[in-house]
Amino acid sequence: MHFPSTAAALALLLTLTNTVSAYGNATVLNHCPFPTYLWSVASTASPQHNLSSTTGSYMEPLHTDPKTGGIAIKITTVANGLVSNAPQLNFAYALNEREGSVYYDLSSVFGDPFAGSKVEIKPKEGCAKITWEKGTRPEGSGTQACFDTAADLVLTLC
Ligand SMILES: *[C@@H]1O[C@H](CO)[C@@H](O)[C@H](O)[C@H]1NC(C)=O
Ligand SMILES: *[C@@H]1O[C@H](CO)[C@@H](O)[C@H](O)[C@H]1NC(C)=O
Repeated sequence: MHFPSTAAALALLLTLTNTVSAYGNATVLNHCPFPTYLWSVASTASPQHNLSSTTGSYMEPLHTDPKTGGIAIKITTVANGLVSNAPQLNFAYALNEREGSVYYDLSSVFGDPFAGSKVEIKPKEGCAKITWEKGTRPEGSGTQACFDTAADLVLTLC
């Protein structure tokens, strides 16, 4: 890249710096050989996001909700699974801006939609992973915290 002047380069650098979000992203990667369906739920639910088999993904910037505080990203293996109460995997997170931390958790309701497949939340290095080797909650698995709100939380399905 060629910059006409140092001033222009500096202006560009400042622009880039200002557009970088303060918080990391919650990301879901669907590596399963079947599609999955996702909703981001707080005081309201997002529309259904379809994640295609093997390559589908979803991303949202970590944020808070004025009513619920935390956010639950709900995933099913059937379309409209949120309203039909199909087995759901819940990837919940809560930013604590005062503490400079993000808490995250993996749980399921109405059954385990990914039973038999590995599901894992992987934050940045130095923060605890949550791994369900067989798609079901292992003994002792609980909420984790990462003291870096700029870190991404990546949930990989299968
Ligand atoms: C979060 O996503 C945004 C938008 O794609 C990206 O610009 C940013 O770099 C991501 N944040 C991190 C920490 O990766
Ligand atoms: C998502 O999947 C549903 C159910 O299969 C389908 O009706 C809808 O058209 C899909 N939406 C998009 C944007 O592909």
